[in-house]
Amino acid sequence: MTEMPAPEGGPGVRPEAVPGQESHDVDVPAGLRDFMAQGWAPPLAVVVEQAPWAPYAAKRRAALAARFPTEALVIPSGTLKVRANDTDYRFRPGSDFFWLTGEPGEDAVLVIRPADDGASAGDAPATLYVHPRSDRSTAAFFTDRRYGELWVGPRRGLDEVAAVSGLETAPLAELPAALAQLGRTRVLRGYDAGVDAGVDATRDADDELAVVLSELRLIKDDHEIAQLSAAIAATVLGFEDVIRELPRAIRTSERWIEGTFDRRARLAGNDVGYGSICACGPHATTLHWVHNDGVVRPGELMLLDMGVESRELYTADVTRTLPINGRWTEPQRRVYDVVHRAQRAAVEAVRPGVDFLEPHRVAMRVIAATLEEWGILPVSAEESLQKDSGLHQRYTLHGTSHMLGLDVHDCASARSETYRDGTLAPGMVLTVEPGLYFQPDDLTVPAELRGIGVRIEDDVLVTDTGRRNLSEALPRDPDEVERWMAALLPG
Ligand code: GLY
Ligand code: MN
Repeated sequence: MTEMPAPEGGPGVRPEAVPGQESHDVDVPAGLRDFMAQGWAPPLAVVVEQAPWAPYAAKRRAALAARFPTEALVIPSGTLKVRANDTDYRFRPGSDFFWLTGEPGEDAVLVIRPADDGASAGDAPATLYVHPRSDRSTAAFFTDRRYGELWVGPRRGLDEVAAVSGLETAPLAELPAALAQLGRTRVLRGYDAGVDAGVDATRDADDELAVVLSELRLIKDDHEIAQLSAAIAATVLGFEDVIRELPRAIRTSERWIEGTFDRRARLAGNDVGYGSICACGPHATTLHWVHNDGVVRPGELMLLDMGVESRELYTADVTRTLPINGRWTEPQRRVYDVVHRAQRAAVEAVRPGVDFLEPHRVAMRVIAATLEEWGILPVSAEESLQKDSGLHQRYTLHGTSHMLGLDVHDCASARSETYRDGTLAPGMVLTVEPGLYFQPDDLTVPAELRGIGVRIEDDVLVTDTGRRNLSEALPRDPDEVERWMAALLPG
């Protein structure tokens, strides 16, 4: 940023600091402050319409209020997080807050008060406390590098947020007084230290609020399923981009793969939904390889675990393991075929009423039987699959499924009886992602398989009668993968 000229005045005398200024910022003499406060056209009236998600968010608030009919609920969006000194990460609101409001901004706080006696939970009054627009009568609009509109661009004001969300809004400055007047209150802790300190609530009651939110989010509504489908469609385009760019990745590194997918994520969505895993060669055997700085060698495999986050913050989570030059070698194909068989069987196990863990059990039966057949397991598959054995897990390493939604590992505060040890129900979306990983230095596996890691991951919606694989469009059959890559790889 070009520095403004130094102000007049004697050495060592600095005009008084103004909000949001940093140590290296130029001084703001009184004359400049006065000059900046005048001569602006009136702000343009912004016409905003209610967002398509607003009725869905209203239903979600009603469902939450019905669970705590006599208490006030306080849910903050979170605050900016420092990356280094005076620079922040790009803001993303807390997922529970966003699920209830659709509002993307920082420092906002949703307060739901108990409905009047006799009224339904749907009528519980809710107020969204937000920053008003920057007022140009103070210097902050051009000095405050976090909130000043001249630094960071205009934000929606109270009226605009109200129009988009259908919520009543109030200035953030009124929040402390409002919190002080609430009766029994629960707060979603950990997002805003100021709010946490301003609410007299108990840890157990607050934990229960987090649990209920996670459990309500287990079942996705139509709008959420459409958002997940959009995220997955963009992810498919991102995988195609990566294949087209493979010659450049081979000349550079895994970084080119990551950057190629990032570009698609920003263009088609909001961002990536989690740190992309672009793991070539033996890096594929490291579960969360996110350094993405290794070489890309023809003849080896690449394990790509990547998901676009949609504009409304729902994320895909898809993994494909692909031969870098577009053709499988025999040992690669041998390992791939087992994971593919396990994954197909696990996807077919998804249906309402079965245990959440059933797809995992199905996948592990396929993989353990093969490991026994190949002489890798030191015990029988049957024995390994017993709870107190699990030796096959040396090569499978992780569970097969997690819930998916606004968070890649969605609904994380749900109780085990409703999630991990619960049963699948229509509207749930889960990943199915078995893998087989032979570490490069694992002497228990045949030498030609060492350094091969394969995972196949799809995003599956539980329907009334079975399942819908939302990421079906991304090829996984090994022959189809070769044809698909041949069509995309340049010349
Ligand atoms: N795709 C990242 C994970 O499931 O952990
Ligand atoms: Mn996953």
